Formats: sequence, C-alpha cells, structure tokens
Amino acid sequence: MHANGTVQERILDLLDPAAAPTPAEGYLDLIGPEDEPEPSFAQRVMESTFLPHVYERFWRPAVFSLAKGWPIGPDAAQEHALARTWLGLGARKPDATVLDVACGPGNVTRGLAAGVGADGLVVGLDLAAGMLARAAADTTDPHVGYVRGNAVDLPFRDGSFDAVCCFGALYLFEDPWGALDGMVRVLKPGGRMVILTSRRPPLPLSRLGARALTEITGFRLFGDGEVTGFLRRRRLGEIKQRRYPGLQLVGVRKPGPG
Ligand SMILES: C[S@@+](CC[C@H](N)C(=O)[O-])C[C@H]1O[C@@H](n2cnc3c(N)ncnc32)[C@H](O)[C@@H]1O
Repeated sequence: MHANGTVQERILDLLDPAAAPTPAEGYLDLIGPEDEPEPSFAQRVMESTFLPHVYERFWRPAVFSLAKGWPIGPDAAQEHALARTWLGLGARKPDATVLDVACGPGNVTRGLAAGVGADGLVVGLDLAAGMLARAAADTTDPHVGYVRGNAVDLPFRDGSFDAVCCFGALYLFEDPWGALDGMVRVLKPGGRMVILTSRRPPLPLSRLGARALTEITGFRLFGDGEVTGFLRRRRLGEIKQRRYPGLQLVGVRKPGPG
C-alpha cells in the first residue's frame, strides 16, 4: 500500500463529492442503471463480451496499424512513448496524477504508468464493464486503478490531474465536445492533454461520407482542424498535431503554472 493509501482510496479523493461509487471486479463503478447512456452501434461492439479478449492482441494492432499508415506509422510501444513525452511523463518519471479516458482493457493506461514515479497514480476510466474487468485482470502495476464512468460526464473534481490522455475513443462519444470540455476541466493549470482520434481524409465528398457513417454507426471522423480548432477556442496552448492517414494525434497544455 502507498503511504497516501491504496489506489482505490487515492481515486476516491479525486472523485466529485456527489459521485457514489460501488466496488466491482477490480474497479470502482460509478454508473448506476439510470446513468447508462443509450449505446450507439459502435459502442455496442465495445461492450460485447468477446472484444475485451481479443482487443489488445488482435483488434487494436490490426485496425490502428492500418489507420496509422502501417508500416510507416508508430507501433503501440512508440505510440505509448509519444504519449508519455507529450504529457511530460517518461524519463524524469514525475509523481504525476494521470487520467486515461476510455481506457478499454488498460493497454495505454499501463503504457502511461511506465512514465510515472513512485508516488504517481494512473486512473483508467471506461464505460464498458467487460473492458474494465479485463483491464483489472491484466494490471499488476501498483500505480494503476480503474473506474467505470462516462467520459462525457467525468466524475472527478476540477483540476485533479496533471495529465489527461484519450486514445482511440473520442469518435465514439455521443458528445465529443462536451467530453473534451470535461477533460480540460479536470486538468490542473499547466497540465497536458493528448488525444488520438480519427481523421477524415481531406478528399472530395469525404465530409458527406463521414456524416453518413456517423448517422449509421455513431462513429465520427474529425477534420484536420476540428479538434485543434476547438481546443484553440478554449484557449489551450502549445497545440501540436501529428497526422496519419486515418488518425490524428493532438497535444495541448492548459494555461497556468506547472
Ligand atoms: C477502441 S477502445 C480504446 C481503448 C484504448 N484507449 C486504446 O487506445 O486502445 C474505445 C473505448 O472507449 C470506451 N467508451 C466509448 N464511449 C465511452 C464513454 N462515453 N465513456 C467512457 N468510455 C467510453 C469503450 O467502452 C471502449 O473501451
């Protein structure tokens, strides 16, 4: 146990006072039956019982490698290293408090944990119970804990985290802009955020095709300036973007000391 308590006790300290967590299979559950959002087709796939078993080994490498432009784009280890660097984690191993939004089976969460120091804490949040059960079963790192919650209504106090990561999920959220506002809210002044999300190829008719895809499946494709433009309007600074054929990586810093 850490000097400041168990991982779950440390997470309880970060929660919004109105949150009412119940312990579940290796995570804190903050979703009551009345809080369940209506799942889109894409989210139903994420909630299937089979996906958590194949996600990290097969689904993630296959789908994301193609979208990152295999064999040129970064592999999973390079992607995690990039996330750590853009979040100010890594070599220095700061005792940072980090949130991994829509953590799935904890693949990126564990990659982030490799960049925090002995007093660091990494919290993975996801809506799918099956993904979280898998995340908890596959995680032995004492700096990592999991929460079941909604990314569009983050259950944490303002300014709780030094760093926020959201990989491979913004395009699934019913309200991605509300989710981004929430991520900025829970970030401390001076904190850093990194997002890996879909990229709409700048081709004729792609906007029309993207709209039809969202309507049918709930899956969104973001234009090159959409996410960066939104964050710029929210007065975030040090905006960085790396573009891949079907994905974009965006990094920002919240103004303030730090
Ligand atoms: C493709 S996985 C991404 C997992 C991991 N972050 C990665 O990069 O591989 C997308 C995850 O988003 C989660 N998700 C979708 N909508 C969510 C929401 N509103 N709140 C929390 N998690 C959500 C799904 O349950 C799923 O586990």
